[in-house]
Formats: sequence, C-alpha cells, structure tokens
Amino acid sequence: MVTNFLQKFQLQNNQLVLPKKQLVTYALYALLALALLHHLLFYPAPAPEKAVVVPRVQDDVATVVSSQVDAPEQLPPPPPVGQKGDEVLVNPQAEAEVSAPPPPPCDFSDGEWVPDARPPLYNGTSCGTIKDGQNCMAHGRPDTSYLYWRWHPKGCDLPPFSPDALLRWLRNKHLAFVGDSLARNQAESLMCLLASRSPPELVHRDGEENKRRRWVFRSHNATVSVFWSPFLVNATEKAERAGVRHNNVFLDAFDERWMARVREIDAVVLAVGHWFLIPGVYHDGGVVVACHDCADLNRTETGDWDKSGACPKKRPYRSGEKELGYTETEMRKTVVEAVAQANAGVGAGSGLRFAALDVTTLANLRPDGHPGPYMHKDPFAGAGDRVQNDCVHWCMPGPVDTFNEILLQTILLR
Ligand SMILES: *[C@@H]1O[C@H](CO)[C@@H](O)[C@H](O)[C@H]1NC(C)=O
Ligand SMILES: *[C@@H]1O[C@H](CO)[C@@H](O)[C@H](O)[C@H]1NC(C)=O
Ligand SMILES: *[C@@H]1O[C@H](CO)[C@@H](O)[C@H](O)[C@H]1NC(C)=O
Ligand SMILES: *[C@@H]1O[C@H](CO)[C@@H](O)[C@H](O)[C@H]1NC(C)=O
Repeated sequence: MVTNFLQKFQLQNNQLVLPKKQLVTYALYALLALALLHHLLFYPAPAPEKAVVVPRVQDDVATVVSSQVDAPEQLPPPPPVGQKGDEVLVNPQAEAEVSAPPPPPCDFSDGEWVPDARPPLYNGTSCGTIKDGQNCMAHGRPDTSYLYWRWHPKGCDLPPFSPDALLRWLRNKHLAFVGDSLARNQAESLMCLLASRSPPELVHRDGEENKRRRWVFRSHNATVSVFWSPFLVNATEKAERAGVRHNNVFLDAFDERWMARVREIDAVVLAVGHWFLIPGVYHDGGVVVACHDCADLNRTETGDWDKSGACPKKRPYRSGEKELGYTETEMRKTVVEAVAQANAGVGAGSGLRFAALDVTTLANLRPDGHPGPYMHKDPFAGAGDRVQNDCVHWCMPGPVDTFNEILLQTILLR
C-alpha cells in the first residue's frame, strides 16, 4: 500500500511532482503504515479487555525523505565485460577483490551510551532557539551529568556533530522538519548546533506557539524550517466532544500547511507518533473509517504528555537494561518496513531516497534526558502536591542532539 502511494510520486526534470488526487488517496495508507494505526485502531470498538493498552511512547522514529535535486553522482563505468568463455580465465582471487562488497553502512540504531567528557556545542544561554520548556540548564536543573554521554553504535562510531559538514551539504538547500512537538524539539536542537558555527536569521514566523518557522543561514544560503503537522494530513486537533478533547483526522485531505510548500524542500524529516495515542476519529471520503480510544471520548483524556509520572533518573540505562515497549517496537517496525518498501519501489532510480532515522533504542535508554520538572524556572518554588513533569520532550542540550548527529550521517552516507 505504501508502495502504491509512493509510486504516485513522479520526477519531472528533477522536480518532485505530487499529483494531488492520487496522493490524497494513498496518503491514507502511508499514514496507516507510518503510524501503526492497524495496531492502535479498532472500529467498531471491541470489548474493553481487547482494547490496546498504549504505554507512553517516549520516542518517535522519524523518516527522512530526501528529494535529491542534484543528480546522484555518476557511477564509474562497469569494467569491460570479457568475451564469452573468458570467465574460466578469471583469477578467483582477483575477482573477489574486484567484487569485494563495500563495508556495510554503519547501523546507528543499536548500541550503548558511553561517558564522554566533551561539552555540548551549545548551552542554555548561547542559543536563542531553545523552547522554554526544554531549557533545563537555564531552569536550574542541578545535575549536569546527563550532558556527558555519547552514543556508541555496535561495531562502528558515530562522528560528533559537525556544523560545517551539515552547512556545506545544506548550501542552497532547504531542510524541513514536519511533525509534532518532537519534530520541533529536534529542529530546535539542529538550529542550536548549527548556530554554534554560523548565525541563523529567522525569516518567517507564523502560527501561535512557533508552529511554523523558517531560518536562513546567510553564510551558506541554507534554509531550515519547521512545520507543525502532528498527523501529516489534515486534522482538527483536540476538538471538544461532550467536554472531552479528541482529534478528527481527515486521511483524504492534505495538510496544506506543509504540502503547499513541498516543492521548495530538498530534504524533510517527518516525525510523528504521539498524537496517534490521543483519542481520535479517522475520516476518509466523508466516512468514519477508524477510531482510537473511542471509549475515552466519554471519559478524561489519556495520552497527554504530562500525565505519565516523573522521570527522575539521573543516568542512562545500560544496554539491555530497559527493553522497548510494545508500541515503540511496533511503530519502529512499521516505519523501517515502510522505508524499505519506499526505497525498493518509487525510490529506485528516481533520485528520491528514504531513510529511517531510527532513534528508538537510543532514546529509550535516556530517561535522564527529559526536562522532568525543569520546564520552567524554579519549578519547586511554591509548588503544590504535584509538580508537572515533562518526560516526553528532551532537554537542550541533551540526547536529542544525537538525533541530529545521526541525521547528518544519514544525509552524508548516501
Ligand atoms: C554558554 O556559552 C556562552 C557562549 O559560548 C558562554 O559565554 C557562557 O559562559 C556559557 N554559559 C554557561 C552557563 O556555560
Ligand atoms: C538559495 O537557496 C534556495 C533553496 O533554499 C535556492 O532556491 C536558491 O536558488 C538559492 N539562491 C542562490 C543565489 O543560489
Ligand atoms: C483541511 O481541509 C479543509 C477542507 O478541505 C480545508 O479548508 C483546510 O484548509 C484544510 N486545512 C489544512 C491545514 O490543510
Ligand atoms: C457518552 O455516554 C453517553 C451516556 O452513556 C452516551 O449516550 C454517549 O453516546 C456517549 N458518547 C460517546 C462519544 O461515546
């Protein structure tokens, strides 16, 4: 289904052409796959004991969809093909050398956190793009050890973030982050990392709570933007029904907030997940096709980012110390499969490349990297019985910077 959706992408003169109608039709299935709705949805609602209990999803798997405007580098011509019968003369060793497979690309998705004394590239006052709720440093978080860890993938190394390398790649290009508040969190981390090298200029700002922003690094004519779109398609977010908030998601309609600009974008990071855990009604062609947590429409909302208790741990889990939960596992699998299908299908030979930015495991091991109560200054001053905790987003600086280290390598290792 995802493949069908992606076959509707066409490249004309290296321009990404998105035929509206087809995309609308197939976006349904792409989203179903991306968001694992087939595990989360039920319609009509089954008996309560069959309802999927959805644990808090800490982490998203983002998809990088990169539309290469510059043509892929020409491969060297294949070695001349020998005459018929020549193959018997081929020295097997020489052949082995010629056809020796390149080393497998590094798999950054599995590994462990190891101590690292190097300080982050930015801090709570050096960067202007840290959302208040994620500025743990400036809010007086007393422990700082969460800053001194580096992700060590199994069997290879993840190079530290290089603002120069990313800016070089981004020269005359536009990189967009589309998704929910975690997409924004990652985009803001990237802005801070890059700003340590070159000052960005905010050139566009639109929507409340910084929901759409665009910056340009004049040094490189490099553009980074953030689009708020927690379902990637058209939706009314947290509409009221009988006093309870829920989403209405229109699977057959674009979210024009970002789709209208997609042709300007050279690479996009799609990052969604959390909002699918909120009660929601899914519409297609004017018909309700699915419903998540429908029973909850009559009781208090679940899935809110701040209702999951505290995250007081002060150090990462060791490798294997905390297994992935059901939802994380399934969401990750779905995205990884969708990306593989996309590359084998429409991606093949088209100049479009898809990659899973698979941060599921590394994020799952970092309970110490969330703001917890340090979403604002002096959280315990005059607090009542309950201090609000954010155990979903990420402190900046913090583990979210590693997402961008992997993003950079994903972009460079083509
Ligand atoms: C943050 O970084 C700025 C600029 O690099 C530096 O002047 C300042 O001392 C740093 N602040 C802290 C608290 O480390
Ligand atoms: C600057 O970058 C944009 C892409 O974001 C590109 O369309 C434009 O042509 C670039 N300008 C120059 C002068 O190269
Ligand atoms: C959602 O769809 C409606 C109806 O087609 C349209 O008016 C609206 O502009 C769309 N919103 C977004 C954000 O795309
Ligand atoms: C909520 O409960 C009332 C009374 O049980 C029922 O009539 C109504 O249909 C329910 N609403 C939803 C959205 O399930």
